[in-house]
Amino acid sequence: ADPDPLQDFCVADVSAPLSINGFPCKPSSQITSDDFFFDGLSKVGNTTNLFGATVTAGNVLAFPALNTLGISMNRVDFAPGGVNPPHSHPRSSESGVVIEGKLLVGFVTTNNVYHSKVLSAGQMFVIPRGLVHFQLNVGEGKALAFTAFNSHLPGSSVLPFNVFASTPSIPDKVLTKAFQVDEDVINSIRSKLGF
Ligand code: GLV
Ligand code: MN
Repeated sequence: ADPDPLQDFCVADVSAPLSINGFPCKPSSQITSDDFFFDGLSKVGNTTNLFGATVTAGNVLAFPALNTLGISMNRVDFAPGGVNPPHSHPRSSESGVVIEGKLLVGFVTTNNVYHSKVLSAGQMFVIPRGLVHFQLNVGEGKALAFTAFNSHLPGSSVLPFNVFASTPSIPDKVLTKAFQVDEDVINSIRSKLGF
């Protein structure tokens, strides 16, 4: 979904003091082979958190050589029962492959049709750009998946945090009316999310 590159590469200077649609390139005199390799997805993510899952991002911010190339990857680790909660990527479709364990992968179309399947090692899924999706570990042990994107920075709107834990908050009146619940339900969700 990203625009096409205009040169072989443009290793991002992510700390450049200017902001453009992407990142400026590091001077070619400073480029080494190491720029094009990244071991940030080699470590097991810490799943001791609210959701029992963690996404380790291999996007342009973590791996600057991806700048302008329109691709990136994540590693997603799951504790037993862990969930990568409903979220969407505004700038990218997502494909993924399960490496270990058993994952229920689901997404919902803009017409509110739900598609899902339980996948095990070697099996692949696709999430069309922008659609809300999740993965739930339904196996006995831990699970691991790698995901790939057609954007160097897909973005991720994580619904529970977007809706219930924004800064500043969405007014209670909006949420009580939208979800047809009382304020105490909203407050309970907020406090469980740590807000
Ligand atoms: C999984 O859905 C991911 O965004 O990496
Ligand atoms: Mn995703």
